[in-house]
Amino acid sequence: MNSGRSSSSSGGVLGKGLRALCLWLCKRLAPREIGVLFERLQIALADEDPRVGHYALEFNNPQALCFLMDAYPALQGIFATYPRMGTVRLLDIGPAFGASAGLLSQMHRSHFLGPKLVVDVLDIYDSRRKFIEMSYPLVNFMHASIESLPGDAKWDVVYCSNAIEHMENPRAFVQSVMAHTSGYAMFLAPYNEALPLSEDHRSQITEQTFDGFAVEAVKVFTTAAWPMTADGVQRQQILVVIKAQAQRGLASVADGGEGPSPALASRAADHWDRWQAAHDAQRPRMTDWGDHPEVLRLIGAELLGSADTSIVGFLADRLGARQAHAMSLCCGDGSFEKALLAGGVFRTIEGLDISEVRIGAARAAAGEQQGRLTFRACDIDAADFGEAVCDAVVAKAALHHLSRLEELFDGIARCLRPGGVLVTLDFFGPTRFQWTDRQLDEANRFLETEVPEELRRLPDGSLYRATRPTVQEMIEMDPSEAVRSADLLPLLRERFEPELDLPLGGTLLSLILHGSIVDNFEPGNEAHDAIVRKAFALERRLMAEGAIGSDFRLIIARPKSAPTH
Ligand SMILES: C[S@@+](CC[C@H](N)C(=O)[O-])C[C@H]1O[C@@H](n2cnc3c(N)ncnc32)[C@H](O)[C@@H]1O
Repeated sequence: MNSGRSSSSSGGVLGKGLRALCLWLCKRLAPREIGVLFERLQIALADEDPRVGHYALEFNNPQALCFLMDAYPALQGIFATYPRMGTVRLLDIGPAFGASAGLLSQMHRSHFLGPKLVVDVLDIYDSRRKFIEMSYPLVNFMHASIESLPGDAKWDVVYCSNAIEHMENPRAFVQSVMAHTSGYAMFLAPYNEALPLSEDHRSQITEQTFDGFAVEAVKVFTTAAWPMTADGVQRQQILVVIKAQAQRGLASVADGGEGPSPALASRAADHWDRWQAAHDAQRPRMTDWGDHPEVLRLIGAELLGSADTSIVGFLADRLGARQAHAMSLCCGDGSFEKALLAGGVFRTIEGLDISEVRIGAARAAAGEQQGRLTFRACDIDAADFGEAVCDAVVAKAALHHLSRLEELFDGIARCLRPGGVLVTLDFFGPTRFQWTDRQLDEANRFLETEVPEELRRLPDGSLYRATRPTVQEMIEMDPSEAVRSADLLPLLRERFEPELDLPLGGTLLSLILHGSIVDNFEPGNEAHDAIVRKAFALERRLMAEGAIGSDFRLIIARPKSAPTH
């Protein structure tokens, strides 16, 4: 599947000579003559037979645009569920001659009407590509069937106007579409079309077609685009909006939410295998905002009782140095687990992680703790923890990598012995790092005004700015990253009773000290530490004012209902 986006973008496509020729033409021709020339080109590119081009311009495009006008209020409602300054990836399946996708791409090319749209179209026929690419240069044409797309190809919004009635099995088609939708899919179709069906139509579409899917809205309506038949029968359209169960993340991507996806789990494992190998090769001092000693001192002073109190020391006091056995989820290379044992928080720990390489590194580093510290490679999204097998479940930077959260929390409750606790230090912020505008604005203002350029340098020499990745980029980078992080806190509070809930912040600090940037801040360098203190103070002030939340928290909680053992 070749996106072809670069070749269809406006900048840099025309060579100098060609651009000069265009300018020369534009100076000599009246705007209307240029318009006529453009239309001629459209007609010529639609097909060898000019009647096809006329059909596109005079019938098919007006009809498609009228359907889009019928659907646009509902589409606006969907776009409004995304951050106004964000970017939404939209896929139009069966775009005909591309008019609706083209109009949407033009209307939402900036943030004037809400989130910006990146518009792809998907067609099983390649014949309209040239027409679409010339007429709507912002639209990216893809020649493929929805069924042939890779499991991880996902769009925030899918628009499918008057295509489903052409399918022999419309429910299977809806299922395929939903497998590639992370937000909402909208279907328009002739409603309960009278028999015999129009030429090329294969199925009658009614509300029942969508039974069992997470239907958010249904509307049956008359429209100028689907007028009365010659013998006076008033035809109607149906518009259906389905919400993806995409927040189920990894579990849903490949199999419609029925179970964990081995393909994506293995991609996450590969990502973390490579991460560990790169980490072993480079050995950076710090990899995360929360590794910086000054940050830890500030958190200690603010939340743990003193600047010198570490998280491990705090947990040892709080949990009363029980002779307890803990299971640690997504343990990575086991450093935190080693520190927990050394700090006397638990007597034994079993660490679980999907990455064999990380588990190998953890085993190798266990040293003299080996007898009390064991590790097991497994996909926690598919794991059964057993019943009443431990006194605590530890999850540090772990829960936000898991997608089957309902099953996970039930599994944690079940595996705890009576009186057992969940201890989590995790990211509870926006799913797939869809940072809020306020977060980005504040972090970037701080970076630009308070952080000298040498501290903002990325390894490639460029200057770092905080940005909001697209959901697709996130999935490509690591399909487990922040897969349902925004769902974590409500679900945890629904099923567990927190006995401690500390807002650690990180909402700005994790963006300011992002990735390799944290390592530019020399621990103990007073000037660098002063910047960290200033960022921390800004974050605490904005949190206190309610302008931002706390993306990271330390929570100790007990299951609400006694688990059934
Ligand atoms: C951010 S790291 C945290 C590691 C460690 N807890 C720490 O704080 O350094 C996330 C870890 O989650 C693991 N992971 C991701 N998806 C997983 C899954 N489905 N099952 C088990 N581990 C998973 C990754 O391999 C990675 O080691």
